[in-house]
Amino acid sequence: MTRPIRATLLALAAIAAASPAFAQSPVPTSGRTLAATCTGCHGPAGRSAGEIPSINGRTETQLAQAMLDFKNDRRPATVMNRHAKGFSDAEIAAIAKEISANWR
Ligand code: HEC
Repeated sequence: MTRPIRATLLALAAIAAASPAFAQSPVPTSGRTLAATCTGCHGPAGRSAGEIPSINGRTETQLAQAMLDFKNDRRPATVMNRHAKGFSDAEIAAIAKEISANWR
């Protein structure tokens, strides 16, 4: 191994060792953080100005059921079926809880 490469690797190892957060950055799984990913299409607080349906003012059960139906291909969709498949059932429950509680 050439000297410059070894020096670079040593420097990177030192940085990684000095910052444990860098080595194992936590994946955000709070309902609030996960629900923030919905606003890009459904609008701020779920109030959509366009063709995409608004999702504010729904009950926790309605939201969770819709997401699970999309996830398990029980409901036809253009994008929500793909999107919902990325969440675990527990994450869907957390999202439904957050939106029903705070998106009025
Ligand atoms: C890429 C854009 C996009 C994102 C991001 C997105 N949605 Fe959707 N959503 C849609 C579209 C479009 C529909 C209409 C169904 C379809 O065609 O997929 C929809 C439909 C829905 C419906 C059904 C609404 C109704 O009136 O029946 C719910 C509930 C829903 N989305 C929840 C969510 C939640 C919760 C998130 C975040 C985890 C989310 N969506 C993120 C685009 C999106």
